[in-house]
Amino acid sequence: MFQHRIQDLIRNRSSVRAYEKQMLSIEDVNKIDGLLSKFNKGPMGSSVRLQLTVSKTGDTEALKGLGTYGMIRNPAGFVIGAVQPTDAGMIDFGYQMESIILTLMDMGIGTCWLGGSFKQSRFAECIGVQHDEHVPAVISLGYPTDKRHMMDRFVRFAAGSKKRKSWDDIFFQKDFKTTLSPKALDSYSQVLEMMRLAPSASNRQPWRIVHDPDKNMYHLFLLRSRAYDPKNVGMADLQMADMGIAMSHFSLTAVALNRKGDWVVEDPKLEDLLSGTEYVITWKASH
Ligand SMILES: Cc1cc2nc3c(=O)[nH]c(=O)nc-3n(C[C@H](O)[C@H](O)[C@H](O)COP(=O)(O)O)c2cc1C
Repeated sequence: MFQHRIQDLIRNRSSVRAYEKQMLSIEDVNKIDGLLSKFNKGPMGSSVRLQLTVSKTGDTEALKGLGTYGMIRNPAGFVIGAVQPTDAGMIDFGYQMESIILTLMDMGIGTCWLGGSFKQSRFAECIGVQHDEHVPAVISLGYPTDKRHMMDRFVRFAAGSKKRKSWDDIFFQKDFKTTLSPKALDSYSQVLEMMRLAPSASNRQPWRIVHDPDKNMYHLFLLRSRAYDPKNVGMADLQMADMGIAMSHFSLTAVALNRKGDWVVEDPKLEDLLSGTEYVITWKASH
């Protein structure tokens, strides 16, 4: 599916907020249009409706009306996604949009998730949002001005430079009291490492994993930040989308390493939950 190794795509990706003043090539537009239709169903079964909007005139000003509050310079286009705003819908939205981001990275196209700094109503209008749908976030895209982002140059600029929580902060063994060492795992240490490097809204990294070695299961939990609690702010549940993003890094890496498994709902009902965490989903590894 990818030209480059998924681990290299993940390690080298970072948000690109400034693009060349250049339209996407016809070949790239056709390729992206073709691939969007493959990402319309997530692992939880919800439909994610996707649309590519590009500047056709070479004049990226034309896209300015969509509104990104000056955060994004010269976008060549956007991928807009609409979904039903349920937990499953938000997970599938995050999962599929992140899979698209990694595929675009594979093509040498830079991207940035926009969940806060975009005018939702304009994008919703653009995709013709239905009454039961939301546009929780969009992806800006284009050829990066900073050539270090191009995969064909393959500079390992991002390796090691990502600001991410350490293993001890987010990965646990059996319960939330015991931390999980990569040494305790086989190739799943790489799978977890690739999940650790995933992007998230405001880089909050709300995911936690409790590994059950006896059942060969990885239980995913969400530790919400108050700033992103959808009950407080009345916005889309972006941290549930973050869970979908983490799941995409997890299963794309597992597949690449030929480790088979499924996403299942099997709450371990742990007695001592880390305060504020909620159970989301489990990866059940097949032997
Ligand atoms: C759901 C989501 C929403 C985001 N919204 C914005 C946004 O509105 N504006 C922005 O500049 N970056 C946004 N980001 C990008 C994050 O800030 C960025 O991914 C994170 O800081 C990690 O940095 P990296 O992507 O360079 O690895 C968003 C990311 C995610 C996953």
